[in-house]
Amino acid sequence: MIDKTEEITRILGIETSCDETAAAVVENGRTIMSNVIASQTDLHAQYGGVFPEVASRKHVEVVYAVVDQALQEAHLSVEDLDCIAVTYGPGLVGSLLVGVNVAKGMAFARTKPLVGINHIEGHIYSLWLTELDEEFEFPIVTLVASGGHTELYLTIDHLRYQHLGGTLDDAAGEAFDKVGRLLGLAYPGGPAIDEISGQGSSKAFRFPRALMDDSYNFSFSGLKTAVLRETKRFEDGQYPVADLAASFQAAAVDMLVMKTVAAAKAYSVKAIHLAGGVSANRRLRHQIEEASTVPVRQPPMVLCTDNAAMIASAAHWRFITGRRDNLDLDVAPSLRL
Ligand code: KG4
Ligand code: ZN
Repeated sequence: MIDKTEEITRILGIETSCDETAAAVVENGRTIMSNVIASQTDLHAQYGGVFPEVASRKHVEVVYAVVDQALQEAHLSVEDLDCIAVTYGPGLVGSLLVGVNVAKGMAFARTKPLVGINHIEGHIYSLWLTELDEEFEFPIVTLVASGGHTELYLTIDHLRYQHLGGTLDDAAGEAFDKVGRLLGLAYPGGPAIDEISGQGSSKAFRFPRALMDDSYNFSFSGLKTAVLRETKRFEDGQYPVADLAASFQAAAVDMLVMKTVAAAKAYSVKAIHLAGGVSANRRLRHQIEEASTVPVRQPPMVLCTDNAAMIASAAHWRFITGRRDNLDLDVAPSLRL
């Protein structure tokens, strides 16, 4: 157990692991003082996915302005901060390098402690930025579903995790993005599929649910191929986009819900937490609440997708338990939690 009574921290978080340049100041791991996010989504839309080289260049262009704005909106200067936290993995190597170097530079110039944070742990802590009056009870099952990851964790206590399973091929968000592109929808596919599914039937097509026995692993590649196969059956290319989207979404959500709820039961958890971009999905939110017997919590939309407030929140718990990184902190593109 961590003694959390005494400490008051004000931490600057910096996040540049993928295509959002973000900086935020968080007090005590829970109160957002500022949360600035410069998204590159429009920039990458023309490529239909994140273009790594373009992403890192854009981070370089905007990162200082984003950090300055986060400090200004929090009405703080660097001197007022207890530490500087930064995502050092997993993610795109060139993108991670930008954030890590800015954080190291600031920590060195102002003699502030530096704390490197795992991006996935950040997503897990996005939940701590939501219900401020409540101390969450452990254990908790957390589903982190984003464009790069689909991982199921048992959170036993602060900073103590057991990895239950993950995707064997595509991440859930990646599957949404690929199917979105296949159906000619706007990038990123997740929100577009969520939107257009409202106009289609989730029962129009019966797509496979890969359940893989009783493991907590996921697989989305068969589902993606099944959607492709259906579109090919319409020789004139006039396939029903809304029905295909809704049926795909139903299958993807079913897999996520079944595994997550099964884990919640098996480990007798006190709550289910949803994090990462895919947890913004309305069907996922609805279906998991229907299926779960314990409370289901998810952060508001702005904290589901990549942000730096979640990095500063995770850093609070690391910082008060003594974590300090040296100025030789390196990026770790394949970092695991
Ligand atoms: O967490 P995030 O911002 O970035 C990563 O770390 O990957 O997640 C982005 C992913 C994208 O794949 C996007 O399509 C997906 O989250 N996403 C959604 C929705 N909103 C965003 N997927 C399904 N339904 C949504 N409403
Ligand atoms: Zn993420």
